[in-house]
Amino acid sequence: MMWSTAAISRLGIRVPVIQAPLGGGPSTVELAAAVCNAGGLGTIAGGYLTAATLREQIRALRKLTDRPFAVNLFVPEPAEPDPAEPDPAVLDGARQLLSRYREEVGLPPDRRSGPWAEDFDEQFGVVVDERIPVFSFTFGLLPGDGVDRLHGVGTVVMGTATNVREATALASSGVDLLCAQGAEAGGHHGTWIGSARDSVIGTMALVPLVCDAVAVPVVAAGGIMDGRGVAAALCLGAGAAQMGTAFMLCPEAGTRVPHRRAMTSADETSVALTSTVTGKLARGVRNRLMTELEGATVPPYPVMNRLTSDLRKASADRTIRN
Ligand SMILES: Cc1cc2nc3c(=O)[nH]c(=O)nc-3n(C[C@H](O)[C@H](O)[C@H](O)COP(=O)(O)O)c2cc1C
Repeated sequence: MMWSTAAISRLGIRVPVIQAPLGGGPSTVELAAAVCNAGGLGTIAGGYLTAATLREQIRALRKLTDRPFAVNLFVPEPAEPDPAEPDPAVLDGARQLLSRYREEVGLPPDRRSGPWAEDFDEQFGVVVDERIPVFSFTFGLLPGDGVDRLHGVGTVVMGTATNVREATALASSGVDLLCAQGAEAGGHHGTWIGSARDSVIGTMALVPLVCDAVAVPVVAAGGIMDGRGVAAALCLGAGAAQMGTAFMLCPEAGTRVPHRRAMTSADETSVALTSTVTGKLARGVRNRLMTELEGATVPPYPVMNRLTSDLRKASADRTIRN
């Protein structure tokens, strides 16, 4: 079937499907290549990669496909309070809270300090340098003249909105497309204007609101699992669907075995929202850490994300061994 939407033409793809960036392991170069070669848009999740690894992945993907692809980054958190300097008492409290879990999985006490996230400017430098076809980003507006720099090297730019105010701000900043991320979305919810809990807006409600508010093509994300969902997204006015969870069980995905098992045995009641596991609102299959950290005071993302990242990895390793 031939598809024709403004988003498809802008992205240079044949099928209205974008493989969402799946940061933290599930995204692989092989997965992105398979999606690109099938006519969709594969994405490299660059947010947690060093600039050097990001460059390697871009070059590796280019060897596997000659189709357009995307690279995704996280815009740094606004400096209020300065994320480089988390409140020492809250940081200490979170370390104490996590110490028994670390002990359980055989990790030493956590004494690491910042930087708490990869260097965005270095990552962004690679993206511009490599003249990639499509750049997508979440958690805010691109700082400075980022959009112009990308346009200057021929890159199509897509920002992420979880409410209409974010969508109009992104459209005014000059992006070419908008990803409307609805409440059903797995992973982090990228709200950056207003509170994330106030922006838990279902995909079916959000997409038409965003389509009415902006002139640029809109991509729908959140809870889209198959062709029926893609068709529904197009009916709501989107020009393509960005799907994450649906790709996580693909053989090419880097999803770890315990995560695959949890997803396979989960049903629609097994997923929950949490803001304490990484310091930012996120949806995932409910697990012990999510349940036991509920209501705790933790430092904001990306600090809490860094504090729990090796714990989450070690816990998955231990599940595989046992
Ligand atoms: C495991 C996982 C990791 C994700 N990592 C990123 C990321 O690095 N960057 C990003 O913009 N979105 C990320 N997302 C969100 C997706 O872009 C997208 O909004 C979401 O997957 C759509 O909902 P769905 O999972 O129901 O398809 C992630 C989602 C999941 C499930």
